[in-house]
Amino acid sequence: MLAYANLKYGGRTDMFCPETRQQMLDKLVELKPDVVMITGDLTYTSLPSEFAAAKLALRPILDNFPTFIIPGNHDKYTRSHITEMRKHFGPWMGVTMVDSIHNSLLPVFSYKDLYILGIDSAVPNILWSRGHYHKNLLKKLGVTLTPEHEQYPPRVYPPLTERVRYLRAPQDCLNFLNKYVILATHYPVLDRNGKDYSKVHPYHGADNNFRLMQILDSAQVKPHMICHGHDHQAFSQILEVEPPASDPNPAKIPIEIHNPGSLSLKYSMPKSRSDWHRIAGMNIYHLSRDDVGVWTTDVERWIHNGREVIREEVPYSSFRKFGEEDPFAVKTSASVAASSDSGSSGSSSVNPQGSVSASTSATPQAESTLNAESKQ
Ligand SMILES: [Fe+2]
Repeated sequence: MLAYANLKYGGRTDMFCPETRQQMLDKLVELKPDVVMITGDLTYTSLPSEFAAAKLALRPILDNFPTFIIPGNHDKYTRSHITEMRKHFGPWMGVTMVDSIHNSLLPVFSYKDLYILGIDSAVPNILWSRGHYHKNLLKKLGVTLTPEHEQYPPRVYPPLTERVRYLRAPQDCLNFLNKYVILATHYPVLDRNGKDYSKVHPYHGADNNFRLMQILDSAQVKPHMICHGHDHQAFSQILEVEPPASDPNPAKIPIEIHNPGSLSLKYSMPKSRSDWHRIAGMNIYHLSRDDVGVWTTDVERWIHNGREVIREEVPYSSFRKFGEEDPFAVKTSASVAASSDSGSSGSSSVNPQGSVSASTSATPQAESTLNAESKQ
């Protein structure tokens, strides 16, 4: 199991709730994930005290589960951010692959059949939270995902299910040595409507987001999933990329994108469209591989309803897109009623096949998404 979290400390107490964060983390510990992933914004302004507070809050996770952390823009606002980040979270920042040719660093996390490639995309300035993928980092990512000596099996698609509409795309097995490959980045690639995030939010995303998508188009190995933070609003999308040059099948390859939103958002009943996402949530990813090597990703979602952490029912109302009818209030009450049952069964069903599973949890007090908004 792999969890994704966005943390943030200091300020914005109107948006983030320490109690919510604690309850979400308690639930995550109870679910016993195999792996936890945090995609940045552990702090608010990158102060040493904020890094220390974030580590204290995350102790139950760091002490008990393999964890991978990448920084968000809010973790890079001070000159000392690298020192502080390494000081407090160095052991959980993956193994850095040094590329002397491209003069670039690429953190990689490995656990059983899971690889997570972390790309640091945060380049904040004093005015806003715009990101940028360094050209050398993109080159390194492209080389890493195109190992010419590898042999890959033909693509096989699993049957579609109703949940595909919301959570899952057809998977191909062009994975890294039969690994499940996750690309972790802080900035969103697509927005909730499937558009280039940086074009829709020009001062809130990575300004050369299109270059990342080009790298994924040309790569031999396509990640099974992209997980990001920055946007407090949970949503899932599908990025369709070009097949590898060696693949005779011209069909595009879908890559799941998941953003669980913030782990620590203060609950408020939505009164308007702009308010509906004010709910803390986390995703649990169950990864399994069948006999012919096809990976399947199942996502279960946990949210905070203002009192407790509950397992949300499918389809997930908190993944609702703009423009859709708002079923939130109705779904929330229904979820609350089912929480006691679904909660217990949820934890027992984690990682049912013994394979690597992943869970995502948004952040304690604040989150990558939240951070970005605060800077604009
Ligand atoms: Fe952020």
